[in-house]
Amino acid sequence: MSAKRSRSGFATRAVHVGQEADPSTGAVAPPIFATSTYVQEEIGKHKGYEYARVSNPTRTRLEENLAALEDGVAAKVFASGMAAINAITTMLKAGDHVVCGNNLYGGTPRLFNQVWTDFGLEFSYVDTSDPRNVQKALKKTTRMVFLETPTNPLMALTDIQAVSAICRPKKIDVVVDNTFMSPYFQQPIALGADLVVHSTTKFLNGHSDGLGGVVVCTRQEQVEKLAFLQKAAGAILSPFECWLILRGVKTLAVRMEKHDESGRVVAEFLAKHKKVKKVFYPGLTDHPQHELAKRQMTGFGSMITFETGSLSNANRMLRKVRICSLAESLGGVETLISHPATMTHAALGEKGRKEIGITDGLVRISVGIEDVEDLIADLVQALGAR
Ligand SMILES: Cc1ncc(COP(=O)(O)O)c(C=O)c1O
Repeated sequence: MSAKRSRSGFATRAVHVGQEADPSTGAVAPPIFATSTYVQEEIGKHKGYEYARVSNPTRTRLEENLAALEDGVAAKVFASGMAAINAITTMLKAGDHVVCGNNLYGGTPRLFNQVWTDFGLEFSYVDTSDPRNVQKALKKTTRMVFLETPTNPLMALTDIQAVSAICRPKKIDVVVDNTFMSPYFQQPIALGADLVVHSTTKFLNGHSDGLGGVVVCTRQEQVEKLAFLQKAAGAILSPFECWLILRGVKTLAVRMEKHDESGRVVAEFLAKHKKVKKVFYPGLTDHPQHELAKRQMTGFGSMITFETGSLSNANRMLRKVRICSLAESLGGVETLISHPATMTHAALGEKGRKEIGITDGLVRISVGIEDVEDLIADLVQALGAR
């Protein structure tokens, strides 16, 4: 396994690390170990597994695979992306301060502000697309910087390398939510991040059929803390969900190539459409951080946000789509289209959304792997004449 990890390319690691044939039967697909406990030969003598909250062989395989894809020392999987973010937060102590991007997935500030502030953590939200804002927001008590790049839904980028350079000398951990790009297009650890988190619900699973979250670590002490947390708090991922992700991840490289190819076509189409006021996509040359996108990512992905001008314009088009499905979430093989103000970012409230520029007319699209001509035809009929 370690030889595969060190020598192989991304797609090979996705298909082979943690995905080895079952040694007892030769089954090519990893088995789902549906068990709550494990027989022991005598007190303290067992095969490394004692109780399924602590560890499960299907989970071990997924954790090895995802650590290899993000190039971390180990990974720990949780019941959802939010459970993974929550696990990271428990690594802090009352009195600690966290600097966060001001445009995160809405559930993240909801967790921070409505749960963790009651336990003595302090959060500041700044526009991290300018690293100087991170520098200015740091306090003596700052222990962590939490970034999402590109942001959801405004597709603003943060220079991970620049922020890491600010934080490293001060021993402040940089956490990157890499859900939008997946490890295929963005490798935050190589850019200096200390922890990477994903909602595996999205591109890693890729088929919209299971929730999950992962934290990828760069230091052994983080691994130990998170392993302890899995055991102590128990928000672990079930073996079946682990298996779904192991299966999904095998095609991550080819899916991401197709997502990216079609994402570029749809973004160009939207940018030229007269009813679309603005398109937020880092692959467009007029995106203010297009150069950073080219440097920091190896593709632009398939997440696109666009301005229709009003809630009624957005609703009119969202009612008409036929191939694109109006639904929350993203990263599946099917194209999902959503309305951030009433869905993913409803929890921010009107004021919170206004502050960061999430208008009622914004629509977000997660371009799937269908024939792109069909997607364009669907958008044409939903938006009206070009
Ligand atoms: C960027 C990002 N991070 C985290 C989450 C939370 O993940 P989950 O829904 O799996 O809890 C989401 C969900 O949409 C997301 O988009």
